[in-house]
Amino acid sequence: MTLAARLFHLSDIHFGVEDRGALAWFEEAVARERPDAVICTGDLTQRAKTSEYAAAAEWFRRLGVPAVVEPGNHDMPYFNPVERFRTPFRRFGKLAGMIGSELELEHVAVITLRTTVSAQWRWPWSDGVVRAKALEEALEELTRLRGDRRFKIVACHHPLSGPSLTGHNPTKRGHSALQALVEAGADAVLSGHVHDAFDITHKIAGRRVRMIGSGTMSERLRGTPPSYNVLHYDLVHGLKVENRQFG
Ligand SMILES: [Fe+2]
Repeated sequence: MTLAARLFHLSDIHFGVEDRGALAWFEEAVARERPDAVICTGDLTQRAKTSEYAAAAEWFRRLGVPAVVEPGNHDMPYFNPVERFRTPFRRFGKLAGMIGSELELEHVAVITLRTTVSAQWRWPWSDGVVRAKALEEALEELTRLRGDRRFKIVACHHPLSGPSLTGHNPTKRGHSALQALVEAGADAVLSGHVHDAFDITHKIAGRRVRMIGSGTMSERLRGTPPSYNVLHYDLVHGLKVENRQFG
């Protein structure tokens, strides 16, 4: 097997209610295996507090490998409605500025898609929405990479299409966005939000696309223990996903 890239995909750390044992276990794996990058698909914090962002920044700095982060619904101000509506991603943006929100490796390109909104015409506001501008930005990136043979990963917080979500609305315009992304060259979509891992293959426009969800690294467990995914990408066999559970 010719391994072209190894990526660690984690999600929903929720600093503030993070599982410290699980994070230490993750750190050890990063130190031992030195992945090419770490991708975090949102909900880095529990309430978007300055102290939670500071803890997240310090933790990612300590990992010492390239990382990409995308915000989740918990990453917008919760106690400050003015800031939530005027500049919902200011605090997150500061962190992303330190860590990164795009990544290009020799064999893999990672782009982000915003599915988190500060408010919407349905309840709860925490559910996913793909707005036209967010999709346009992701499609522009994929268009720029057209003809590029690298494996193209889109990272977002909310699953775009499936699995069936107990207690969540489906992501608004998620399925049509997925179609557009695949037509523009996306090979896989990574997400979080549901706190349980999944790996689904969709066939769209004659192409196969992987929808890969990572579990949580927080104490907010649903059906499974804390976990993260390891994405092994090799040029002959493509992408293999390994879900590692803590404990
Ligand atoms: Fe979420």
